[in-house]
Amino acid sequence: MIKPELLTIHLIAAARPNFMKVAPLFHALSAEDWCRPLIIHTGQHYDANMSDDFFRDFNLPEPAYHLGIGSGSHAEQTGNVMIAYEKICLKSRPDWLVVVGDVNPTAACSMTAAKLGIPIVHLEAGLRSGDRGMPEEINRLVTDVLADVLWTPSPDADKNLAREGISQEKITRIGNIMMDSFELLKPQIEADKTLEKYGYKKHSYGVVTFHRPSNVDHMKVLATIIDQLCHVSEMIQLIFPIHPRTRQRLNEFGLMERLAAAPNIRLLEPVSYIPFMALVKSAKLILTDSGGVQEETTYLDIPCLTVRPNTERPITVTEGTNKLVKPEAVVTEAQKALSGDWQRGKKPDLWDGQAAKRAARDLKRRSLAAQ
Ligand code: UD1
Ligand code: UDP
Repeated sequence: MIKPELLTIHLIAAARPNFMKVAPLFHALSAEDWCRPLIIHTGQHYDANMSDDFFRDFNLPEPAYHLGIGSGSHAEQTGNVMIAYEKICLKSRPDWLVVVGDVNPTAACSMTAAKLGIPIVHLEAGLRSGDRGMPEEINRLVTDVLADVLWTPSPDADKNLAREGISQEKITRIGNIMMDSFELLKPQIEADKTLEKYGYKKHSYGVVTFHRPSNVDHMKVLATIIDQLCHVSEMIQLIFPIHPRTRQRLNEFGLMERLAAAPNIRLLEPVSYIPFMALVKSAKLILTDSGGVQEETTYLDIPCLTVRPNTERPITVTEGTNKLVKPEAVVTEAQKALSGDWQRGKKPDLWDGQAAKRAARDLKRRSLAAQ
């Protein structure tokens, strides 16, 4: 017995990396008879190819609430989400709040809920890059210190939380939900025709994504990356769906012309999940600074060069196919990977497509215990 009425669970979805994490959990909770999941879209990402297309791919319903916050400085985004989300909680208080990942609304909704006494669950808890220059690291620290339940993807995350003094009973290792997302849409990804559309043969091309402020907001760093990509494209054709932040900076710094003139680099708008994963799945090499892509390439056993000095996902380096590289070393490292000199990975424990089921079970157990 839980309650005569169903427990209401708010799932916060704000930006691209949230939608594919919320989707498996939403579907798993929707199949339960004790709860009612509601999606709250904060509106951080709003272009169709950064938001709606993911709702369509993952067969998610319209959000129960849309906060319409949009872009802004860190403080604007955080403050505006807090103000808007507090109004919803005061009108219709949820039994649980689930926040995912490390974007600004993850921390904002956690702070709002904590002060209202609403229990918080953090999905993808415990990841640490150790780099407070990353806005996401601040969001991870704030969210984890406030969360009542911490769902972790890997043992390194458990260790980080233990080191920070988070009590053991709050932590459940559920595994990596990004693999659930992939498994959920695997048939559609396998049937996708994007490769044929662009005339690519399997394993004959590389996929590129960049959007970290530390890479794209600094002209010199971005210029180095573009230069390196142009050289890599002399060895292998590249496909580069450009994040809106990156497109803006490329235009602002006058680097777009150089990139657009490279004959072997295909520039695209961001692509939605199914075609993106179809491209990644058959790629020979990935060049990225994305968090999620480091995990997807480890799962799919594809060499991944991550242009960052650190990662909050170290298991992708120790057990997977990921390698951290400096911007100026991209060509050398790509050459090595293309010649077969790269580390074959194994799927980390509990990266098995069952994380959402374990999460739903854990939340039911905790809800019963709280009665
Ligand atoms: C955000 C997250 C980052 C995540 C990334 C995933 C934070 C601090 N950052 O970074 O952790 O890795 O999303 O993609 O939460 N823009 C558009 N259309 C959109 C959305 C954004 O044009 O639909 C443009 C706006 O000019 C905006 C800029 O992109 O100012 C940056 O967007 P923002 O959401 O602030 O940060 P991201 O770089 O996307
Ligand atoms: N992704 C996508 N289309 C793209 C780029 C990325 O569907 O053009 C997906 C991919 O599954 C990735 C996820 O979006 O793992 C989140 O990516 P992003 O790099 O935006 O965020 P991060 O994981 O770095 O926070």
